[in-house]
Amino acid sequence: MSSTAVMRPHAEDEYAEELAALAATDERVRPPAWRLSPAAVVTYLLGGRAGDVEITPKYVGPRRLVEVAVATLATDRALLLLGVPGTAKTWVSEHLAAAISGDSTLLVQGTAGTAEEAIRYGWNYAQLIAQGPSEAALVPSPVQRAMAEAKIARIEELTRMPSDVQDALITVLSEKALPIPELASEVQARKGFNVIATANDRDKGVNELSSALRRRFNTVVLPLPDSADDEVEIVSRRVAQLGASLELPPQDSALDEIRRVVTVFRELRSGRTEDGRTAVKSPSGTLSTAEAISVVTGGLALAAHFGDGVLRSYDVAGGILGAVVKDPSADRVVWSEYLETVVRERDGWSDFYRACRDIS
Ligand SMILES: Nc1ncnc2c1ncn2[C@@H]1O[C@H](COP(=O)(O)OP(=O)(O)O)[C@@H](O)[C@H]1O
Ligand SMILES: [Mg+2]
Repeated sequence: MSSTAVMRPHAEDEYAEELAALAATDERVRPPAWRLSPAAVVTYLLGGRAGDVEITPKYVGPRRLVEVAVATLATDRALLLLGVPGTAKTWVSEHLAAAISGDSTLLVQGTAGTAEEAIRYGWNYAQLIAQGPSEAALVPSPVQRAMAEAKIARIEELTRMPSDVQDALITVLSEKALPIPELASEVQARKGFNVIATANDRDKGVNELSSALRRRFNTVVLPLPDSADDEVEIVSRRVAQLGASLELPPQDSALDEIRRVVTVFRELRSGRTEDGRTAVKSPSGTLSTAEAISVVTGGLALAAHFGDGVLRSYDVAGGILGAVVKDPSADRVVWSEYLETVVRERDGWSDFYRACRDIS
């Protein structure tokens, strides 16, 4: 691969072949401006077949939930994906926009510093001063572009934006129009426009959604993976993809370590061991699937560059420690208690126990 290759292609580019195959075989009705029918969008997300092309699953989770999310986008209500960090809210929103609009790039990142221009429009000040307000001096926001181009706009971490900025969305979502008083005009949304917002459960109370805005959204809560097997599947799949894109040598023996990382994360998260017999304390941070993915990917890099190429306990131990111990004093106690009471006693885990002891 050349050194000019992008690090992370957009979903619509990375999965262009799958999307084209779905579009070619899709015989169902497509809502206005949609590239695919709602059923084909669900297949794109959950996996399946399109002719002889295999559609890889992007999201592992309840089908009904994905159907509700997709159906919402075909109505005049917007979609709010809610969940704890690392439950694939951003990931699902990117893939939905890619499948529906063929464009996942119309994105507003919500932060405490997000200004109204990010939702409405801004100005090219040099032109504004030289010529006064004009079409040409207007800098459209991603939301404005989505309205004009009949696409999906994505708003990340909606509840981190100041409330007055959030409220700029109310007119957009209820009137489907964006007034531009400076030009005595407006942008009217074309059919096919909609908004996917994501928000973090943990941010509750930071900038709570106003009830006026909440009414414009259908909320879908993305859950943590149901079973350990689901979570192992998610992690192995993503690790294989990430490893390939980082050009790490392929690994087939990584599954044991992945299972181990997932087990540790699930036990610490839920506060009890998998057999339900021992209670353990939970650390302060969220041990999400996304973090399990980073731990394993980091371990693969260690194994590839400094080990014998096979992922071993020693390669994941450091990553696990870093993920678990976010608060240096309290979490360290939680971790050593878990090590001594659970890991030490477990059959087949002695190498992992030793690796963790070595670096703790
Ligand atoms: N249920 C799931 N199915 C597929 N991938 C998942 C799932 N849960 C987490 N992931 C993975 O976790 C990673 C991080 O998810 P992300 O969308 O950033 O989380 P969030 O926005 O909810 O904090 C993604 O790479 C995604 O592949
Ligand atoms: Mg996110």
